Amino acid sequence: MPGSVDPARPGVRLTEDGRPLREVVSYTRRGGRFSPAQERAWAEYAEAWVVPEDEVSRPGFDWASRFGRAAPLLVEIGSGVGETLAAVPRPELNVLGIEVWKPGVADTLRRLAKAGIDNVRMCSVDAVWLLEHTVAPGALAELWTFFPDPWHKARHHKRRLISPAFAALVANRLAPGGVWRLATDWADYAEQMVEVLDAEAALHGGVVERWGERPLTKFERRGEAAGRTITDLAYARA
Ligand SMILES: C[S@@+](CC[C@H](N)C(=O)[O-])C[C@H]1O[C@@H](n2cnc3c(N)ncnc32)[C@H](O)[C@@H]1O
Repeated sequence: MPGSVDPARPGVRLTEDGRPLREVVSYTRRGGRFSPAQERAWAEYAEAWVVPEDEVSRPGFDWASRFGRAAPLLVEIGSGVGETLAAVPRPELNVLGIEVWKPGVADTLRRLAKAGIDNVRMCSVDAVWLLEHTVAPGALAELWTFFPDPWHKARHHKRRLISPAFAALVANRLAPGGVWRLATDWADYAEQMVEVLDAEAALHGGVVERWGERPLTKFERRGEAAGRTITDLAYARA
């Protein structure tokens, strides 16, 4: 079937004759070079805390065994350098940071170790693929998407993470009462988020006060410095 997913290769869809299809994804692969500090953090912690692509794509893979316990799941998509994961510990949850930019993952490992947090696992696979293929319906207690790439040129809007199809996927994966927190510094993306999430029947919420637990990251600071308004949103699954 054209565009069908080859389950053994996350993020790669194949054409009818087996060639990789060029897909619209919400990220670009940025530079992958590690600094010496990132190299050290990766060498020390990646084996325990980073879940590799070939593991998540294995049939029967499940997060509880990777965390060593069954617990509700908190996912952060686009966790960057891990500032929020390290600043907001949630010891009662299994916490998954999804970030395709590996130097950011290495920084996250260093931050988590420094904060003494050991219930976070990291994965560098497309978050849409991971939610769809490795998270069961109703398994998600909480989802964070803070400052998703804005793709602010009109011809790039199709690459924005927050879309009707993605909102339907999240609504399906959230547990009843589960919360999706979002933030952006782009007014038209905030409007799009409200429009898309209001239209998803299983979600209820809207624009909220800045979430107090969210640390100030480079992206928020940069938006503020450029005079943009920061918008926080929170939606709960009915
Ligand atoms: C603008 S940054 C924001 C980082 C962080 N949330 C913050 O506020 O500092 C967005 C991040 O999302 C990651 N990203 C975008 N789409 C993704 C996807 N589909 N799966 C995993 N990571 C993604 C990018 O690599 C990038 O690091």
